[in-house]
Amino acid sequence: MRCRRHHYIVTEQLRPGGRSASHTTEPSMLTQEELKRNVAAAAAEYVLTCVQPDSVLGVGTGSTVDCFIDAIAIHRDRFRAAVSSSERSTRRMQEHGIEVLDLNDVADMPIYVDGADEIDHGLNMIKGGGGALTREKIVASVARRFLCIVDESKLVDRLGAFPLPVEVIPMARASVARRLEGMGGSPMLRQGFLTDNGCEILDVSGLEIPAPAVLESHINDIPGVVSCGLFAISGADLVLVSSQAGVRRMSRTEGRQDI
Ligand code: 5RP
Repeated sequence: MRCRRHHYIVTEQLRPGGRSASHTTEPSMLTQEELKRNVAAAAAEYVLTCVQPDSVLGVGTGSTVDCFIDAIAIHRDRFRAAVSSSERSTRRMQEHGIEVLDLNDVADMPIYVDGADEIDHGLNMIKGGGGALTREKIVASVARRFLCIVDESKLVDRLGAFPLPVEVIPMARASVARRLEGMGGSPMLRQGFLTDNGCEILDVSGLEIPAPAVLESHINDIPGVVSCGLFAISGADLVLVSSQAGVRRMSRTEGRQDI
């Protein structure tokens, strides 16, 4: 069981920041792309400590995960295969020669690796900026640990500045939108976008989220909602955060598996 909503602690500085090239003057700032590559490399190192040759990895979706796929691909002989949360990640892994399995054929995964749009001090997340939230939630639910990889722009004191993605069955778009308005949100249909499940996304701004798990449950209960982008009932177990100073690890202060 994962525990919920405990404050995070900084447990370890994993990698110093900065580029590898030597700088005799002021080092330049790392770009966001470099921050993503740094955290992805740290995640790949960490994942290699959790896997066996017969292990199946859970893999999320997004630009940070793309970097993770690139980083783990050179070690593909160290694990058996992966389960993917999107067509996008499936394509990228297959291009790297990583075998991608159907989740229905996998009963156990040591770890699931994914990014986030926001993550708070209790390791609750908003996800779904890339529209893969439902499959992400499904694959994550099978894994023993959720490793979230972000740059520090994603760390927030309270969730909600990033519009909350809600995946809906198309015929329920308007009825779900009215219910979300009743909760204080302003839903906007993501134009020209269908999820890998053939559904639509409402991006909901203006929601107050003092209790992420409660709101997650309320939104999931609306008929026509496939899933919402709050990952709080089951949040992350461990976070790697990339900043100009390097990559640091944060984990729950209690109720977690030791890592
Ligand atoms: C996709 C997601 C992504 O994890 C989230 O949008 C972060 O993406 P990125 O790494 O590109 O910032 O939830 O559905």
